[in-house]
Amino acid sequence: MNETIKVLVIDDDDSGREALALLLRSAGYEITSAATGLDAIDLIDHDQFQVIVSDLFLPDKSGLDILQHVQKVSPATEVIVVTGHGSAQSAVRAMKAGAYDYITKPIDFDELKIVVSKALDKQKLLSENIYLRRQLQGRFEFNNIIGSSPAMNLMFERMSRIVKTDSAVLVSGESGTGKELVARALHYNGPRKDRPFIAVNCSAIPETLLESELFGHVRGAFTGAIKDKPGRFEAANHGTIFLDEIGTLPLHLQAKLLRVLQEHEVERVGSNKTVKLHVRVISATNADLENMVKQGEFREDLFYRLNVIPIHLPPLRDRQQDIMHLTSFFLEKQCRLMGRPPCSISKQALEALEQYSWPGNVRELENLIERMIVLTDTSIISLDDVPSKIIGDNKSGAVFNIKMSNDGIDLVSEISKIETSFIVEALKSAKGVKARAAALLGINRTTLVEKIKRLKIDAVG
Ligand SMILES: Nc1ncnc2c1ncn2[C@@H]1O[C@H](COP(=O)(O)OP(=O)(O)OP(=O)(O)O)[C@@H](O)[C@H]1O
Ligand SMILES: [Mg+2]
Repeated sequence: MNETIKVLVIDDDDSGREALALLLRSAGYEITSAATGLDAIDLIDHDQFQVIVSDLFLPDKSGLDILQHVQKVSPATEVIVVTGHGSAQSAVRAMKAGAYDYITKPIDFDELKIVVSKALDKQKLLSENIYLRRQLQGRFEFNNIIGSSPAMNLMFERMSRIVKTDSAVLVSGESGTGKELVARALHYNGPRKDRPFIAVNCSAIPETLLESELFGHVRGAFTGAIKDKPGRFEAANHGTIFLDEIGTLPLHLQAKLLRVLQEHEVERVGSNKTVKLHVRVISATNADLENMVKQGEFREDLFYRLNVIPIHLPPLRDRQQDIMHLTSFFLEKQCRLMGRPPCSISKQALEALEQYSWPGNVRELENLIERMIVLTDTSIISLDDVPSKIIGDNKSGAVFNIKMSNDGIDLVSEISKIETSFIVEALKSAKGVKARAAALLGINRTTLVEKIKRLKIDAVG
């Protein structure tokens, strides 16, 4: 499982754009394309790309405009410009303005692939450096959010940019990706940090109570309303309200929420007195709200009001690079909480975690690490401590998922991986007894011992 690397291709010429997209897709990148400058800017504002390949001449904007916009909203993104034959001057101008590189038409696809992969290398180095620097200084701005993958770095950058503003933020991502963590970090690192942070899980409150929970009510407004009660919006005044699972908000409350957000004031149910609100709104969803808008299940106007600044948290399986950092973070945290000496994890066990698909994302990883620490007596988590469900998800299956990359593979190392998997499995079945494992593998014990040494396999059993 590799990192998802997002590349935006901008070219008004349909066939050129499609060819570029096809080529880069075949190189394993996730491609989005745009035919106009305006479309491109919209995509740049709403998504996070690692690399942008843009034609220098577009009907509505120039590649330089795009470059400037990218530098403003997403400076970590590398831009590669494509110039026509004989327009060396504009290429030079683009480079001076901060483009990573340029390539000239007709495009040499091999050259393009090399330039894109170099841009990514530079970015990776830079993001590891930023991560290490932050770690050395011991003062992350968002120090409880771990991640050094390019996608997470783009997210940190966006968070730093918006933390001091009041703009509405919509955090999206699968369950367990850290949406609430991000919402809290935005609040507690911003100017409202000494004011309330009120979280409302829209799906956890019965629909009949939700209106009064959010907006409050006065005495007698409905049966059971025995006294005046402020809603969560009032409670969050001057602070932040976090509307979790916003996609589950019923349509009639969506209309009321929209009014409150537009008018910056709220009326309690049963009252016509308004209360002025100064609240930052952060909402979160694991549903595809844009699709819900298309299906008529979510109001489009409300969507735009909530989604001024989108933050998308990619699933953990798409940011394999973060697994190692998250694992050490949780190991340290859990051992500290349990009052145990620090523990570590073996290379093979970590590899198994890196190969797993993590449907429950970071939450699942955190829970697993807690469980492994509780169940082991040693200070090193080994492959043996990793539940078979997780190993089964990769070692025995994934190695046979044979894919031939366009850049070729390293056959010897691929075969070593397969060999390692079988040896580890055999050792497990044999409860670590090498003679029995060797018999299972149809080789003699000496050969097995030699292989274990060469492949640097941990003790299993
Ligand atoms: N990048 C991260 N660094 C450290 N801890 C993280 C990170 N992402 C998530 N976590 C931890 O994982 C757990 C789940 O995160 P959180 O509750 O924010 O997820 P969520 O996206 O709101 O999930 P759900 O959709 O299920 O509500 C929390 O304990 C959180 O602290
Ligand atoms: Mg949540």
